[in-house]
Amino acid sequence: MEKDLIDISQLTRNEIIAILDLADQIKANPNRFSVSLKEKTLLMIFEKPSLRTRLSFEVGMTQMGGHAIYYDIASSPMGKKESVADTAKTASRYVDIIMARMFSHEQLIELAQNASVPVINALTDFSHPCQILGDLQTIREKKGKLIGIKLAYLGDSNNNVTHSLLHGCTLVGMDISLACPKGKAYEPNSKVLEEAKRFAKVSGSKVVLTNSAEEAVKEADVVYTDSWMSYHIPVDQNEKRVKIFKPYQVNSKLMAHAKPDAVFMNCLPAMRDMEQTPEVIDGPQSIVFDQAENRLNTQKALMLLLLKVK
Ligand code: CP
Ligand code: NVA
Repeated sequence: MEKDLIDISQLTRNEIIAILDLADQIKANPNRFSVSLKEKTLLMIFEKPSLRTRLSFEVGMTQMGGHAIYYDIASSPMGKKESVADTAKTASRYVDIIMARMFSHEQLIELAQNASVPVINALTDFSHPCQILGDLQTIREKKGKLIGIKLAYLGDSNNNVTHSLLHGCTLVGMDISLACPKGKAYEPNSKVLEEAKRFAKVSGSKVVLTNSAEEAVKEADVVYTDSWMSYHIPVDQNEKRVKIFKPYQVNSKLMAHAKPDAVFMNCLPAMRDMEQTPEVIDGPQSIVFDQAENRLNTQKALMLLLLKVK
């Protein structure tokens, strides 16, 4: 594995499977890892809000005998009185590993390039690799396999979670169908789409981009959606975006096009009656909290591997 985890696309299929296998071991027997990160410190840099990412990383460090520092950019000189590079170089003298949630993907790369310790992308406007590692562990648990599983993603596809899903699914041999409105503002980054198609060729999977929600969901094993109002989208766009994305709302009528045993996923935070209806997210097919739980296991595994403890 490379020093940092910036994007899933930098991992091989075998590296992803190794993270998931270790995450399964940790989940089955967490006590076995209770001192694995003794005397190690994680710096957690946050430029955007978070519930799951903050809690799962901090709890992960505590449960493995280490320590985590929450560092809010609002109370930091970074980007104002201090450059990203100087922050990275200074922090590397104190801590063993860094995770950062930032707006700019380029700034995250700059942080990683200037840090001598591993840096983990904890979400940028462009990608969210940690989310997809947790999602893949959850899908494998529920479906018993990844190869040949079809995931349908609905809604905002010019989106960090969509980009990492495209990379992650195609690397492990899952089919992925995206349904979104027409237009560059709503479609995935074209470079990511091309990369995913290349990965799919190697793993024998399929990538489909369509404007039809029904077509994407047809025979899907997993139906996935994400917020129409990601953290970086200005609030004044809410009204316009609700109208544009409404045809892609996951409701029970749409779920009926998927396989009868399909599961529903959302990385959370979720808004009921927006990207999905309450009967779907609160219904029997929903696995959103299992998905949230596995962020803890996969990130513990990731930190152990990046720190070369495992
Ligand atoms: N899914 C996720 O990353 O949630 P938070 O924004 O709460 O961290
Ligand atoms: N696309 C969402 C993911 C939240 C975890 C956002 O960026 O807000």
